[in-house]
Amino acid sequence: MKIPPFKLERYFAQYEFNVQYLLCSSDCESVTVQDLLELEPGAQESLQRCWLGYTESPGSASLRQEICRIYTTIQPEQVLVHSGAEEAIFLFMQAVLQPGDHAIVHWPCYQSLVEVASAIGCEVTLWQADERNGWAPDIDALKRNIRPNTRVVVLNTPHNPTGYLMGQDAFLEVNRLTQERGIPLFSDEVYRESEYHLADRLPAACDVNELGVSLGVTSKTYGLAGLRIGWIATHNAEIYARMAALKDYTTICNSAPSEFLAELALRHREKLAQRNLEIITGNLAILDGFFERHARAFSWIRPNAGSIAFPRLNGEDIDLFCHTLVSQAGVLLLPGSLFDDQGNHFRIGFGRKNMPEAVTRLEEFLYY
Ligand SMILES: Cc1ncc(COP(=O)(O)O)c(C=O)c1O
Repeated sequence: MKIPPFKLERYFAQYEFNVQYLLCSSDCESVTVQDLLELEPGAQESLQRCWLGYTESPGSASLRQEICRIYTTIQPEQVLVHSGAEEAIFLFMQAVLQPGDHAIVHWPCYQSLVEVASAIGCEVTLWQADERNGWAPDIDALKRNIRPNTRVVVLNTPHNPTGYLMGQDAFLEVNRLTQERGIPLFSDEVYRESEYHLADRLPAACDVNELGVSLGVTSKTYGLAGLRIGWIATHNAEIYARMAALKDYTTICNSAPSEFLAELALRHREKLAQRNLEIITGNLAILDGFFERHARAFSWIRPNAGSIAFPRLNGEDIDLFCHTLVSQAGVLLLPGSLFDDQGNHFRIGFGRKNMPEAVTRLEEFLYY
């Protein structure tokens, strides 16, 4: 299988660990191992006793049990733990798609959601997010694009890179119409539980759709990307079995200390999410002021969930702007061209504690 480079990851590889301000990260502020261990008395001693042999391939029973609490209808045997959400995306596509199949993918998107299907030899229809409509993709367009050989529909909400959170009716409609046609919905929900208003939280696809596969991870809302613990949850036993069989060829099982820490963190996920939501809320207030002061230079659609948005720069070329900004001011933004976007957008991230300083730097750069 030949697959092109993952543009966003290559860009981060160049900058992530050497620029002063990451103003485009999609994950929220992280914590230390010690911070996690302090969440529960006795956790440190338990970690020290953690056995370093191979772990259970689907993920430890107790971790899967904890993951089930995120959902309303899912049992531990319907959860398959992976090394990050990324491994799960790769295995899902391999499990479900054959050359010549058709896939419909919510776009722009995290590149692997579209690229793995293309590399397998599928024909991919991009289901476009519409900026004029607050970045909502059009449900009628989805209906029109479904073909007899459509084998998967990929949805990502809250969405990377736009921050778009779908409304409940539309979400249920996407689930209904894919399920009715026997098409698995791959629902990338890695930013779930970061909604600014609890009432806006969508049900998980796996809880409302027998064929739905929900993707989750510790990286984003909970700020624990370094654990590399992701999972799928689904009632679709056939897809589950195929993914489990493929995992034997990638990672076999997960890191034991990471599983321990992920389980501990998920027991306190509301607290971790709340702390990150407070960071996001404070940062958003700053961004509102920034975009108001620079209303001519940027167009800003404020999201309803998550730690990223996809504003447009009016005028100057976005690649050049990002390049000059990082070289002169040490502030990293992500040009939309890395998502193959041609609308001069850029991804901004506001889940990090040092965002206010990064925005000050950006503003100084704009003035000088
Ligand atoms: C929409 C989406 N899905 C999946 C992933 C992969 O998550 P992870 O890096 O934790 O495996 C990302 C990471 O940015 C993402 O934005």
